[in-house]
Amino acid sequence: ATATRLEAENATISQGVVESNHAGFSGAGFVNTDNVAGAYVEWRHTAAAAGPATLTVRYANGTGADRPADLAVNGRLVASGLSFPATGAWTTWASRSVVADLAAGANTIRLTAATAGGCPNLDYLEV
Ligand code: GCU
Ligand code: CA
Repeated sequence: ATATRLEAENATISQGVVESNHAGFSGAGFVNTDNVAGAYVEWRHTAAAAGPATLTVRYANGTGADRPADLAVNGRLVASGLSFPATGAWTTWASRSVVADLAAGANTIRLTAATAGGCPNLDYLEV
């Protein structure tokens, strides 16, 4: 099935801002979270049926260090400290996919910074 693209700039943001100063993003911009553990972006997605779905996050990490984040679906931790390795530059975007179970109907999908570095810059989630 065709993936649904959910831009991070349209999601719920806690401790972060929408920016557009690093080229290569999709849509109107990307989310730059504060460099703090606990900053998050939460997307909403309505699934036609319950079951496993591929969640693809597009991100950039221009630092030299990993920016791990916890992935939660409907408040349940799916992946702790999911790795978002360095991409080489803030303008170099990469994708990372995880399979997670969704509920039929409304779902929340949240990425929360696991370390004081914050999240990588987040472009979108595809489901
Ligand atoms: C730089 C960069 C931001 C990024 C930040 C960070 O300030 O311009 O886009 O979010 O570093 O380290 O998180
Ligand atoms: Ca940041």
